[in-house]
Amino acid sequence: MILVTGGCGFIGSNFIHYWLTHENQPLVNIDKLTYAGNPLNLQKFNSDPRYHFIRGDICDRSLLLEIFHTYKPNAIIHFAAESHVDRSIYGPQDFIQTNILGTFQLLESFREYLNTVPRSNWSQYRMIHISTDEVFGSLTPEEPPFTEINRYAPNSPYAASKASSDHLVRAYHHTYQLPLITTNCSNNYGPYQFPEKFIPLVICNALEGQPIPIYGDGLQIRDWLYVEDHVRGLIAVLKGGTIGETYNIGGRSEKTNRSVAELICERLDHKCPLPNGQSYKSLITFVADRPGHDRRYAIDCQKIEKELGWKPRENFLSGIEKTIDWYLNHKVWIEQVKNQSYRNWIKQNYEKRLASCPE
Ligand code: NAD
Ligand code: TYD
Repeated sequence: MILVTGGCGFIGSNFIHYWLTHENQPLVNIDKLTYAGNPLNLQKFNSDPRYHFIRGDICDRSLLLEIFHTYKPNAIIHFAAESHVDRSIYGPQDFIQTNILGTFQLLESFREYLNTVPRSNWSQYRMIHISTDEVFGSLTPEEPPFTEINRYAPNSPYAASKASSDHLVRAYHHTYQLPLITTNCSNNYGPYQFPEKFIPLVICNALEGQPIPIYGDGLQIRDWLYVEDHVRGLIAVLKGGTIGETYNIGGRSEKTNRSVAELICERLDHKCPLPNGQSYKSLITFVADRPGHDRRYAIDCQKIEKELGWKPRENFLSGIEKTIDWYLNHKVWIEQVKNQSYRNWIKQNYEKRLASCPE
């Protein structure tokens, strides 16, 4: 039995799909179902006896202890988090609560549970803490990609909250010898990603004929990782990673935001041309930048490649093709997530930005 936290979100639901298809072992998923958690993502497992779902908050230690004692998981895959940088700028409180205090409660519950197990058996247990490359801050164009030993320099409330949780994980391994591993991955994309994030936002806005907002000059760089490659990396770490270590997972696909938006538009021009003959590129709109916007992230993933034999299978062209096709084939899913709360967010984040478009 494994315990997944935040399994109804983007990466968590891709992980659960992959796990129940390829590993065939039972799992229990605890998810608070915030705006980002969507039980529709896992609908096909609703009556699968291997899948157990508990709606709950990782800040609730008594619930976590009950789950540990009832399901007796020997592995924990910790995804649950507030994950959107722009939301962390408007309201950091939930990020501190879930990402820092929630991770603390999970570590404390795991420690209490492990204390009921003989020390000699601890090697059969492990927890993977999923973190981000954003904890390392921003790179200049000339700097090499982040390695596992880069200095932490988080720049947004989101990145600072994740950095803080990484430090707690490190300390709990060092002090209490808990069997913990941290992974730091780059920007994921693929099926089931909530359309507040850049790639699904570009696809969904294009399909609705809405402006495609690009922050600032659009020359910021992200290293795009197809979500299934990430999931395979996490399973490789779960099975073969060294306790107490950290592993970077990246897509080897550095792209500017502008080039990502243009490529998506070109693929949509090909797949579903606009009736007026224009390119979707005509929807691209440069808007006011994100405060403190990190210029470049890039991951050096040689450690996981060498130690665990993992490599990304998708390049950006193949991954974006699959992603666009998934959204084109899941219009009902898109309609369902674009509820009133989503529309309120779009208004809050974009109304003023669109009104003050730079030339
Ligand atoms: P997401 O926002 O899509 O999903 C987060 C999930 O956690 C949701 O299902 C939500 O309901 C749940 N959740 C939030 N607060 C909770 C709480 N207090 N208790 C229980 N459940 C709670 O996030 P994601 O994109 O799937 O990211 C998963 C993890 O990967 C996060 O830890 C994130 O920091 C990390 N990460 C994501 C990316 C990316 O590109 N998406 C990149 C690097 C790292
Ligand atoms: P995002 O998907 O929010 O991920 P992160 O901030 O964690 O990297 O954004 C990816 C990049 O796209 C980032 O440089 C910000 C930019 N971006 C836009 O230009 N416009 C948008 O509307 C959004 C949401 C993001």
